[in-house]
Amino acid sequence: MGRLVSGEEMAEDNFETSIRPDSIDEYIGQAELKENLNIFMKAAKMRGEALDHVLLYGPPGLGKTTMAYIIANEMDGNIKTTSGPAIEKSGDLAAVLSTLEPGDILFIDEIHRIPRFIEEILYSAMEDFKLDIIVGTDASSRNITIDLPPFTLVGATTRAGDLTGPLRDRFGIVSKLNFYTEDELKQIVLRTSRVLKSSISEEAAMELAKRSRGTPRIANRLFKRVRDYALVMGDGNIDLSITKLALDKLKVDAFGLDATDYNLLSSIIEKFNGGPVGIDALASSIGEEASTIEDVYEPYLLQNGFLKRTSRGRMVTEKAYKYLKKGEQDTLF
Ligand code: ADE
Repeated sequence: MGRLVSGEEMAEDNFETSIRPDSIDEYIGQAELKENLNIFMKAAKMRGEALDHVLLYGPPGLGKTTMAYIIANEMDGNIKTTSGPAIEKSGDLAAVLSTLEPGDILFIDEIHRIPRFIEEILYSAMEDFKLDIIVGTDASSRNITIDLPPFTLVGATTRAGDLTGPLRDRFGIVSKLNFYTEDELKQIVLRTSRVLKSSISEEAAMELAKRSRGTPRIANRLFKRVRDYALVMGDGNIDLSITKLALDKLKVDAFGLDATDYNLLSSIIEKFNGGPVGIDALASSIGEEASTIEDVYEPYLLQNGFLKRTSRGRMVTEKAYKYLKKGEQDTLF
């Protein structure tokens, strides 16, 4: 079984598409982003222009893709989607750019992974709505410029720091998505239960919210699993006791931490005396990629005070020692 409490997308998250809110009013949380976008979208519509390019960044599962679809709906445009890793040759980007119609949204997920030599094509596309390409080879090659219609690029990334300055500067609207509060996650779970027509009690929705690492994708994924337990082990009603039972069986603890988080924290304590430890040494000690630790696991542990980053590396906090019930004094000598 895959990791239930990772914000990363899994194949079984297809149902996300069916429960995704269509309008900005239905989107729960990220109040500041919503308020700003609402104004910028209204202004663009009043002027009859395309919305400025939007860069959304933050940990996986917080609703960047959902927001891109909402922008397209609200602006009455079509959405074309691609991702950084899917763009290997300049022709891949040219192909998608040349399908754009006025007011369309081009969504590029993991935009930090576009190869640098292709990024330059985006600069003039974003700034002047022009597509500069080279046709032919060697001696017979020449530059041609194709006019593009006004469009909005919505870029999403888990690592804003990996974008080059020139690319970042071409986004008029740059916004970070934050982890959701328990109350917002509860509202999202209740909304999902209405859309899927499986009722859940308020307390059960709150329990799910508490164990979802501040991440709607995780809340919705856990909701589905709990719904299965309720159907098979109970009478179909999702109440607090079946929710707790299911989450315990799924080994999601009261903070939403799972075996990988445990492994990461206890590895720092046991193998590195509590830290500081460099990201690469930590990654190889638990068999994960450094970038996965940085993008997926670490943000929540940092925000919730289990882990801290110092100039010499990662260290666990007292809270992590207490949480893992490991004596700090054990590691001092
Ligand atoms: N489903 C996933 N994220 C959501 C959000 N922010 N608001 C409403 N439904 C969602």
